[in-house]
Amino acid sequence: MTGAPLIHLEGITKTFGQGAAAFQALKGVDMAIAEGDFVAVMGPSGSGKSTTMNILGCLDVPTGGVFRFRGVEVQSLDRDQRSLLRRKYLGFVFQGFNLLARTTAVENVELPLLYRGETAKDRRAAAMRSLDKVGLAPWADHTPAELSGGQQQRVAIARALVTDPAVLLADEPTGNLDTERSLEIMELLTDLNRQGITILMVTHEEEMAAYAKTIVHFRDGLVERVERGHRSGAPLEDV
Ligand SMILES: Nc1ncnc2c1ncn2[C@@H]1O[C@H](COP(=O)(O)OP(=O)(O)OP(=O)(O)O)[C@@H](O)[C@H]1O
Ligand SMILES: [Mg+2]
Repeated sequence: MTGAPLIHLEGITKTFGQGAAAFQALKGVDMAIAEGDFVAVMGPSGSGKSTTMNILGCLDVPTGGVFRFRGVEVQSLDRDQRSLLRRKYLGFVFQGFNLLARTTAVENVELPLLYRGETAKDRRAAAMRSLDKVGLAPWADHTPAELSGGQQQRVAIARALVTDPAVLLADEPTGNLDTERSLEIMELLTDLNRQGITILMVTHEEEMAAYAKTIVHFRDGLVERVERGHRSGAPLEDV
């Protein structure tokens, strides 16, 4: 890809609270993410990783600085345009899965499609394709309680993928999983990245970050260091 990066943060600041209670969580974050990248965001607790992810996901707005998505200044968009951008281009995966409890896997995956004017039949077909991508089609009719932690996280990923996003934002997607399940999720993310989805993932674990192409290290509300060309393929040998 040439030209502007997919995502560009310039001098992003974020202050929570006001007056004496004000706290500056981000102090001028600069970050450029190319289309097709797989970025691991690392750094100590409280360094501003989730705050940055929330801004990238249009779930929160920065106090200062410029956030460009595909060259468009996101601050210049109104609330409706921002939520349109979010629904059209972005998929989210959170540590806690956020699945509806008494709702089957396939119904959970369908949720982001309810905003669109599609028929129930089309929604179901899209949700099944998405579940199939994460290897869970046979579990479509099971509720979260009937699925393992790793399977629940796969459902959450399928839900994020169902709208065909350009970017997948994952805040500690393996935070609740054991190592084996975590590595399976990393293999899945690597696979999705190979299919062209740009991935940004927050993780505390080196072992998971090793799957990324780029590692961005946060410290005290700033990007401290960026490691590039980290991975050419998966950490295990590609055959
Ligand atoms: N809504 C909020 N109101 C006030 N302060 C907040 C808010 N959200 C975050 N903060 C503060 O901003 C700082 C950065 O928080 P953030 O959640 O981005 O950290 P993090 O790097 O994701 O940490 P962790 O690894 O623990 O998830 C923290 O000191 C936090 O207390
Ligand atoms: Mg966090």
